[in-house]
Amino acid sequence: MAYQNPHLAETADLLKKRFAELDNKADILKAVELKALFDELKTMPQEEKAGYGQAVNQLRQELVQMVSAHQNKTDALPPIDISAPFALNTPLEKRPHSLPTEQGSQHPLMTELQTVLDIFYRMGFNAVESRELDDDYHMFSSLNFPEGHPARDDYDTFVTSQTDSNGKPLIAPAHTSTMQNRVLKKYRSNLEKNQAIAVVIPGRCFRNEDLDVQHEHTFYQLEGVYVGKGIHAGNLFATLKAFLEEYYATELEIKIQPFYFPFTEPSFEYAMSCPFCHKKGCSVCLHNGWIELLGCGMIHPNVLREAGIDPDVYSGFAWGGGIDRLIMMKHGVEDIRYFESAKLDFLRQFS
Ligand code: DAH
Repeated sequence: MAYQNPHLAETADLLKKRFAELDNKADILKAVELKALFDELKTMPQEEKAGYGQAVNQLRQELVQMVSAHQNKTDALPPIDISAPFALNTPLEKRPHSLPTEQGSQHPLMTELQTVLDIFYRMGFNAVESRELDDDYHMFSSLNFPEGHPARDDYDTFVTSQTDSNGKPLIAPAHTSTMQNRVLKKYRSNLEKNQAIAVVIPGRCFRNEDLDVQHEHTFYQLEGVYVGKGIHAGNLFATLKAFLEEYYATELEIKIQPFYFPFTEPSFEYAMSCPFCHKKGCSVCLHNGWIELLGCGMIHPNVLREAGIDPDVYSGFAWGGGIDRLIMMKHGVEDIRYFESAKLDFLRQFS
């Protein structure tokens, strides 16, 4: 449809061109140009508002229809037969081929993870990998999130239509803390031998996020769990400080602030002085001098009890933090989405 107003007509053309190029067609409805048109309405004199508003709404409606028409078209596509990517008689040189494997390189997340794990191995920790699909019990109940508790909303993630034995949907875990109950049970017998439980858990996590340079629906965390006799928050702060000073090969200061997690009491937010500028202020710490790194705390007695550990005898600490961010800061990566993007030119910079 043609729009009378030249500004509107120009924006409509621009949005339609963009629509053609978008992979995810629905993103057109979030275009800043469209939002700007609605914003203009707010400051417009009353007498112009009605007509212009109607036209702006019409444009939006038109885009909505384009999105749903596209959806219907793709829904109608025949299913892909993955068992037959090409006819058997296709000559070899015309068949699709994979990239030569000798040109492949390790993903930067895995490289960094090895560096991080090496430090923790030397500090006496074991490593256990987390899962990419888990159940409600490990995601919430075992971590002291009662059913219906609002804190569950902070971990909004993806669920499958498949259910566990309690009829609850299986969950793409929103954090690596889902493994706490398992590792506490697995290593509980250490305690009877007067040894500590010391485990780090790297894993892939998922959240229902509005995506931007700092938010990705898929990311990596490293969880840490340490339990023994007489363990206190000072041990927690010192363990993380020792790791960070080794990782950044520099002396650091730390800052602890109170926070809330259902699975720790007390809970903290852990910040370090910026290892790149030493509190002078730089682009990495956003001229703050400090970088907030992770959540941590003393493991809640209910979490220990749930794993069969007596909280009157033993205590412990835990933490969880993003691995992607460590690399972003270290290498000046400006967009977290690159990690999962399969952009080979980005990935090969790390090979
Ligand atoms: N699981 C928390 C999150 O992703 C981070 C966290 C906080 C992990 C405190 C812990 C902890 O183990 O003790 O938001």
